[in-house]
Amino acid sequence: MTTAVDFPKDFLFGTSSSAYQIEGAVNEGVSGERRFHLCVKDVFIKKQKYSDVFSVRSAKDIPKEYINRVKLVGYSKGSIIFKVVDKIVDKLTSVADADIACDSYHKTDVDVALLKELGVQVYRFSLSWSRILPTGYDHEPNGEAIQHYQDFIDKLLANNIQPLVTMYHCDLPQVLQEAGGWTNNFMIGCFSSYARFLFKTFGDKVKLWTTINEPRLVSEGYGGIYGLAPFDHDLGATYSGIGDYLSIHNMLLAHAVAYRIYEKDFKPTQNGGVSICPDTTWAFPNDGNNENDKKASELVLQHYVGMFIEPLVTGEFPKIVLESIKDTNERKKFSTWRLVPFTDEEKKLLIGAYDFMAFNYYRALRVTMMSEDKIKDETDLKKIDQRIEIVGDYADPSIPIDDYNGFYNILTWLSKKCKKDTKFIICENGLKDIDNPLITAEVKTKSKIEYHRGILVELSKAIKDGINVFGYCVWSFMDSYEWIMGYKDKFGIYEVDFENPDRPRTKKGCFNFFNKLFQDKKLPVDST
Ligand code: BGC
Repeated sequence: MTTAVDFPKDFLFGTSSSAYQIEGAVNEGVSGERRFHLCVKDVFIKKQKYSDVFSVRSAKDIPKEYINRVKLVGYSKGSIIFKVVDKIVDKLTSVADADIACDSYHKTDVDVALLKELGVQVYRFSLSWSRILPTGYDHEPNGEAIQHYQDFIDKLLANNIQPLVTMYHCDLPQVLQEAGGWTNNFMIGCFSSYARFLFKTFGDKVKLWTTINEPRLVSEGYGGIYGLAPFDHDLGATYSGIGDYLSIHNMLLAHAVAYRIYEKDFKPTQNGGVSICPDTTWAFPNDGNNENDKKASELVLQHYVGMFIEPLVTGEFPKIVLESIKDTNERKKFSTWRLVPFTDEEKKLLIGAYDFMAFNYYRALRVTMMSEDKIKDETDLKKIDQRIEIVGDYADPSIPIDDYNGFYNILTWLSKKCKKDTKFIICENGLKDIDNPLITAEVKTKSKIEYHRGILVELSKAIKDGINVFGYCVWSFMDSYEWIMGYKDKFGIYEVDFENPDRPRTKKGCFNFFNKLFQDKKLPVDST
């Protein structure tokens, strides 16, 4: 039996998206002779023409014809991702591009009407850096793109929808990538001048800012994780545990400098707030009584989440992360120190650099420690630093993982870690539709609602425990371009027909559930 669960009257419910995943119009918004620099993901996609990735819930779901032709490339949100080694692509997967995506750049009226119909109080979206500053730097802003976003923000506000704006969501201007992207510390200056430009241009209307979405995910692209821009898997062994750490260091400082700019020059008149937006997870030890497994779960927590929170609290990277890197260096006779510590000056910038804390959450993990034998054979430095193994097929129901409890645990952990009275907002939480034509739409809807219900019950519990959470955004507003998964993964509350040039949106079965929740601020008792 389900019981009613209430949320505070002023709680903000909403949905999220990101510019690159929905806007399309890759070459628009540029005036005169200015060249539009494709964002880094764009260039990357176009290089990837002959690969193919797909995800399944469980290894036993790999289509027969692909068995023996696939390579495991990773785990993502309840699925296992495989690459078909010798196949030339189907258009829904990784080589699908985002040139049109949901065509949201041309559909602001439609989208705002849908958000209103859905009953959201907040809409979390991102601005396209390469559209606003086509050269990457702030010397030649693009008036047309600025007007576009001004109009969009005005439309949201006219409909009582509060904008929650991400400055950077995976779409770095290519010109900056060519100079090394986030591995180069010149990015601290580039990002903070972009941020200053945004505060100056939009800050009278935007009161909730997040600087960098999922910096861990961004850093993985610099560590050579397959499918993530800018580097691909083949370079993995070269950059893992090096490029990723350099970029984490620089992203944290870029965030902190942007925060200090806001604090000094804009906050006194604009009265808004700034946060970073890490992705989070909770790792349960495979065996709760095994000390090694417990250490593995602490390693995940600190490598995945602590890495971005601890520097904002103490100015240092987590101790266990530093120890694990030191240990790897000794084992592999590697004398370069890979995770650069912050200087005293930098620590001052970092400590306390957030007005609220935004974060994303999808799934929990179950982990065990990597065996000594494996560590010996492993060449990927970051894998050795983290030295964890995700246990089995975590989408397999015979290995239960409590995503809901994981959410409660991470929220509680964050609230203990962050400064007293920190307010939290969940910028992304969602479940993709089950990708199986044999499963009915009704069953798909049920499983999505069940997932959100599970999370929201825990969220309400945490609020009752005294944790100050002021908002929750469902990923996502509509089906959109899902990076390496192309258009295959569908997270939307609205469905988009990507075969139709007009990209019509239609409500999915879960619409009523969210609509009721958003309006009543109460978890609907029944499931539809
Ligand atoms: C990212 C989104 C992505 C979502 C679902 C998050 O990691 O911020 O861009 O679409 O997960 O996969």
